[in-house]
Amino acid sequence: MEWYSDSEDSGSFEGLGGGEGAEVTQGEAPQDAGLYQGLPSFFSVEDESSRLKMERMMSDSPCGLIVCDALDPDQPIIYVNRIFEIVTGYTAEEILGRNCRFLQYRGAYATRRHPLVNPSLVTQMRQSVDGGKEFQGEVLNFRKDGTPLVNKLFMIPVHGDGDTVTHFIGIQSFTEALLELGPLPSPPWKEPVRWRQRPIQENDHFSYLVSPSGPGQAPRGESFIMLLSDEVLAQKIFCSVAPRDLASLAMVCRRFHRLSENEDLWRAVCRKEWGPETANVLDQMARRQQLRWGRIAREITTLEAAAWRKFTVKGAVEPSRCNFSACATGNKLVLFGGEGANMQPMNDTFVLDLGVESPEWKHVQVSCAPPGRWGHTLSCLNGSWLVVFGGCGSNGLLNDVFVLNLDDDKPTWREVATSDPVGAHRPHPRSWHSSCTLEGTKLVVSGGCSDSGRLLSDTFLLDLTMKPPTWREIPVSWAPPSRLGHSLSAYEGQKLLMFGGLATSGPLRLRSSDAFTIDLSDEEPKWRYVTGSTLPGGATPGGTPPPPRLDHVAVSLPGERVIIFGGSIAGLNSASQVFLLDPTEEKPTWRRLDLPGQHPKFAWGHSTCVMGGTRAVVLGGQTGEEWILNELHELSLLSANVPPLDAVSAQQPDPKGKRVVAD
Ligand SMILES: Cc1cc2nc3c(=O)[nH]c(=O)nc-3n(C[C@H](O)[C@H](O)[C@H](O)COP(=O)(O)O)c2cc1C
Repeated sequence: MEWYSDSEDSGSFEGLGGGEGAEVTQGEAPQDAGLYQGLPSFFSVEDESSRLKMERMMSDSPCGLIVCDALDPDQPIIYVNRIFEIVTGYTAEEILGRNCRFLQYRGAYATRRHPLVNPSLVTQMRQSVDGGKEFQGEVLNFRKDGTPLVNKLFMIPVHGDGDTVTHFIGIQSFTEALLELGPLPSPPWKEPVRWRQRPIQENDHFSYLVSPSGPGQAPRGESFIMLLSDEVLAQKIFCSVAPRDLASLAMVCRRFHRLSENEDLWRAVCRKEWGPETANVLDQMARRQQLRWGRIAREITTLEAAAWRKFTVKGAVEPSRCNFSACATGNKLVLFGGEGANMQPMNDTFVLDLGVESPEWKHVQVSCAPPGRWGHTLSCLNGSWLVVFGGCGSNGLLNDVFVLNLDDDKPTWREVATSDPVGAHRPHPRSWHSSCTLEGTKLVVSGGCSDSGRLLSDTFLLDLTMKPPTWREIPVSWAPPSRLGHSLSAYEGQKLLMFGGLATSGPLRLRSSDAFTIDLSDEEPKWRYVTGSTLPGGATPGGTPPPPRLDHVAVSLPGERVIIFGGSIAGLNSASQVFLLDPTEEKPTWRRLDLPGQHPKFAWGHSTCVMGGTRAVVLGGQTGEEWILNELHELSLLSANVPPLDAVSAQQPDPKGKRVVAD
């Protein structure tokens, strides 16, 4: 189930212009012009006349807006706007995943269509949906509290590639229905005992042991299992689900909804799903910004608040260079090496602390710097270690490994002495390879370009928890075609997603948009071709695949998704277009994200730093050639990633309803 909403607490739609003269005049109707949002930003309607009709309707008066998934047999709601929530009284969490027909049921607990709802109109709606056609009509609907509403409904199909209807958009213009229907019948079950609204306590799980018949005694006629508090059972179940499933459970009924309003529960669920490292970063943010975890979970899952912004920082990286590598540890960006004037390999280290008021590039005095290089990789391990591997030095290609702990009193680069001093198990020297870290302790290196100019297709793992650290080649019966400038992203513990690069294709080298996965925890790891178009008999690309590219950015998001942008792309394709893939899906499908804000013109993998899984900072990004490292672009997934920088002077609304930070 997709999970989209822009409900009140998303915070990213505040204070926008437009939308006067609301037709909906009920008590808490939207006086706030900012609630008029138009189409959700991730969505675009290709048919111009339908789009214009919808935009006109939306701008005449604020309307409810719903998007349904037409590829699912029951057309579940995947997006709902705030106006719909306010007018109907149903929150996004309660209705996402359901068919819209619940609006024909009187109140939240009714189990069938109200007899006054015109059945022939319902048949027309069904036929329109089944035939993938537009529908326009007035249908009797009900608020959650049972008040009748006349709903002027406009339903429109959206076509994906070819003739397939992939989505339906519904625009609802609600007015009061002058019907006297009497009081709403009470729910068909007994009112529940009052639910405690407090965080789960350790000993809640044992509360069944305290019975009126004395500790450990079941009251007469009841077994222990019946004494288990519903709350404890439900909490136990809730704790074991994924954030998006918790959102679904919360909309099952009022009791579940109340039960899910528990910060500790959300934190636990997110921590389990996204891992402690990301959860700790988010925890700090939640405390600092007084954010609710439910909201954080929603924003990260739906990416509804994702936006670009541009900012400037002080200091300088001098002498100027290109082909350096950068990565983030905590709030700090670290830059190492690069290619200076006359192809001079550099070996200096710079740090930019984005956690301070006025960030400034600083040259760090470190002892024992590795030999200068470019085309290397810099990765973060264990939260604060930086690991350099390979690249091109003054005497050719390298395959050495150096580690720096920035938290040390006297930061020192240390060469990693591996278990095979003669280098028998090390990767060959290389540059323009790809690397990533697994479980915070292992470095994976794949492909790249060898001394002879040959492209490589091997994968190596360096386990830094071993004493001494050990390199091992991952034995595979088949490997994706050799390549350089591709990306490697880790997900679900030991799984890797490889995407793009400049790949060997017969006698040629072509930009690739192929994606492959491998699970290194398997006894015999196997590369699988997930999506792409270049391999014979391979999978057809699902959704909207990114154009083929190399040297792009890959960001692993919480929730096992990967986003791709930037790199070197042929033709007029924009490097700032962002694409999302969930490699854990049975048939992974690419989705293009239409993100607001000021995006970079260029973004390269070796100069983009990912911070805490919720921000990607692009260094440079103005021109493809000159590296102006004082101008940074940031792709932030959370609306609460409030600009930490005083360089940011003003905030302007943008037409899509997202917050944009001006230069
Ligand atoms: C995008 C979309 C929006 C819809 N909005 C409404 C609505 O606001 N009110 C309503 O009564 N039905 C709405 N419907 C129609 C119902 O979902 C459903 O198609 C209709 O009740 C006929 O199907 P059924 O006989 O299976 O209930 C909408 C359908 C779609 C696809």
